[in-house]
Amino acid sequence: MTTRYYVTTPIFYVNGPPHLGHAYISIAADVMARWKRLDGFDVFFLTGTDEHGQKVEQAARAAGMDPQSFTDKISADFRDMSEKMGVSFDQWFRTTEERHKVSCTELWRRIKAAGDIYLGHYEGWYAVRDEAFYDEDELTSRPDGSKVAPSGAPVEWVREPSYFFRLSAFQDKLLSLYEEQPDFILPASRRNEVESFVRGGLRDLSISRTTFRWGIPVPEAPDHVMYVWLDALNNYVTACGFPDEAAANWKYWPADVHMVGKDIIRFHAVYWPAFLMSAGLLLPRRISSSGWWVAEGEKMSKSVGNVIEARELAATYGLDQVRYFLLREKPFGGDGSISHQAIVTRTNVDLANDLGNLAQRTLSLIARNCEGRLPAKGAATEADSDLLRSAEALPSLLREHLDRQVFHEGLEEVWKVIRAANAYIDHEAPWALRRTDTARMGTVLRVLVDTLRVIATVLQPFMPGSMARMLDQLGAPPAARWVAHLATPLPDGCALPAPQGVFPRYVEPVA
Ligand code: MSP
Repeated sequence: MTTRYYVTTPIFYVNGPPHLGHAYISIAADVMARWKRLDGFDVFFLTGTDEHGQKVEQAARAAGMDPQSFTDKISADFRDMSEKMGVSFDQWFRTTEERHKVSCTELWRRIKAAGDIYLGHYEGWYAVRDEAFYDEDELTSRPDGSKVAPSGAPVEWVREPSYFFRLSAFQDKLLSLYEEQPDFILPASRRNEVESFVRGGLRDLSISRTTFRWGIPVPEAPDHVMYVWLDALNNYVTACGFPDEAAANWKYWPADVHMVGKDIIRFHAVYWPAFLMSAGLLLPRRISSSGWWVAEGEKMSKSVGNVIEARELAATYGLDQVRYFLLREKPFGGDGSISHQAIVTRTNVDLANDLGNLAQRTLSLIARNCEGRLPAKGAATEADSDLLRSAEALPSLLREHLDRQVFHEGLEEVWKVIRAANAYIDHEAPWALRRTDTARMGTVLRVLVDTLRVIATVLQPFMPGSMARMLDQLGAPPAARWVAHLATPLPDGCALPAPQGVFPRYVEPVA
């Protein structure tokens, strides 16, 4: 029986074009999806765009477009970015699809039927940029007398009739959830923040707005549109076919992991489980939070003009180089700075020198000295067995780290083996054995090919294109590149294609 795995990205606001932050969370989720496919799971990988709400409506107006044409255009750009960055999603979701209206309407009905929705009046602070309500004590006053949210977003005072969700009734249930499932929120530092926020007491949440129209109408109250976060979060179940539990995708719910940025953890780890509990639906198993990237040490912002676009980065350094950098350079849950120098170092040291040269040296020795055929292994020395053992341990180490979204440590484990293989080739010196002991030379080269095969197999989720090329050169059959296929040795004597470098060095363009 195959086991299912459902992973999601946040759906992106279409108020402006995509940037590196969006690409980052998508690539991290993509690594999870590709890893699980490689490890034999039946994967459903969802991403898409969050198209309703005041912020998008305002952006459309500023662009002089009607909201639907505006969101069509920006959503297509996000989709293009995802495809160009190698994001292997199974479904592209848009909250303006008709099926989502049906799903949100039903979710609302269920929550209402549970007695958790009532009509009231909201009076308080709202930040359009965050699409979030704030309490007075969360805000900071600026010297000019204006107030800002913790995110730095400006707030405005709103007064309007509103439906409320009885969030206050879910405090104990949420606290027991965090206690019973300590990995529900990762990393642990975020879990603790969320827990203390909930412990501090929850107020009922305003879940409808009446001062603009760009949203899903509330059933039987068409002058209200649903709060954009209720609409957005529900994308994760709509995509599975909700409310049609006979739908083909329904089997994927509940999600195994919602990958999110740290700025939206509260919506996912507090509001979303509470909505689901109220509606009688199962809860996702994990909310995994990423930290933020800053550019050359500074927060990316349109006004500073330092916003990095992922597709441009890929055009400059190479797609796989960028994907590798993003997951290697900082822990997923922590913050990190992206700089030209840091990407060049990772490209030239980790990829071109450590891994690229190792493969190139091994494969060109085989091409020159073994008639381009995979040599057979003779009796193993301790050094051979040590290296092979460390390579064979990689799939389970990767499984352990990736199951907790600790990508950088998973990669470090792979690089430990790459470094050991480089030390091995230097020590065994197969180029010298050519004259003294060709059988031993064959064994050493074969140990290296077998080691490289495991390395390239487990690195496929991070660098799909380059690792496919490396596996081609190692003679691994294209249809047999899953983790399970590693148990079947490559056939002795199989002909290998002429070796070609996989990772070119980055060379500064001449001014
Ligand atoms: N629409 C909501 C999510 C709804 S999910 C049901 C949203 N969209 S967003 O487009 O503003 O942000 C999407 C993701 O991009 C967030 O997870 C956010 O953390 C991430 N990033 C935005 N800027 C970022 C960086 N500079 N660095 C890393 N990630 C950042 O929120």
